[in-house]
Amino acid sequence: MKPKHGQLLYQGKAKRIFQSDFDDQVLVEFKNDATAFNALKHQEFEDKGRINCQISAHLFEMLESQGVPNHYLSLAADCWMVVERVRIIPLEVVIRNIATGSLCRETPIKQGDELLPPLLDFYYKDDQMGDPLLSEARLEKLELLSEKDRLEIERIAFRVNLLLQSFFEKLDLTLVDFKLEFGINNQGQILLADEISPDTCRIWDKRIRDSKERILDKDRFRQDLGGVINAYGEVLKRIQGVSSTPRICS
Ligand code: TMP
Ligand code: ASP
Repeated sequence: MKPKHGQLLYQGKAKRIFQSDFDDQVLVEFKNDATAFNALKHQEFEDKGRINCQISAHLFEMLESQGVPNHYLSLAADCWMVVERVRIIPLEVVIRNIATGSLCRETPIKQGDELLPPLLDFYYKDDQMGDPLLSEARLEKLELLSEKDRLEIERIAFRVNLLLQSFFEKLDLTLVDFKLEFGINNQGQILLADEISPDTCRIWDKRIRDSKERILDKDRFRQDLGGVINAYGEVLKRIQGVSSTPRICS
């Protein structure tokens, strides 16, 4: 089902943003498209949009209940949510609890090493540039946000990590790493934005020992492991087992 929406405001790789009836709200449509390696690899997976939308809604509601300011307002349909309009800060904030992915490709840190305290990195969000990793000096030079806002984003990101880790723990899932995006609303408040889903997190199944079989996230697509939708569906099923249905806008 498609909710009533206004004009297309922005088209991303996995989502579209539409105008709503209200100036300070927009509608987000989650698409079935999956991309990797800066869209060099692309495939559509039936039902991915719905699964990621529902997972994100559950997680945003859980975080909201714990006082984490975020853009989510309600679901509008299976693959659609209503969110507060924000100006997205072009940064990808990545937190890692276990070493894998680009960290192990770019440094001698060993695959599977536990990272305590967790590692937080800022990447510049620009597909054409390949989302480059930023040093503190480069981040400051770019003048994308004040020092106060950067500290606030780091504080929220570490808190999101703790909350997601303990939530996933109860579901027998390991939160390996994840990417967050932040925006600023009309009142100048920093809000957690974008999505939180198996597209943007690495999640391992604690019930499975095999290092490939246990993967329940986009690495299944990146590494051609198959079973992408089964894996995403398993994450949603476990979340639904412990939390109530997300609210739907009237
Ligand atoms: P990385 O190991 O490839 O740097 O990825 C770190 C985390 O960020 C991982 O959970 C996947 C997520 N991620 C995105 O959500 N979008 C991206 O464009 C990239 C590169 C990673
Ligand atoms: N989202 C990125 C892309 O579309 C990369 C990734 O998630 O691996 O290429």
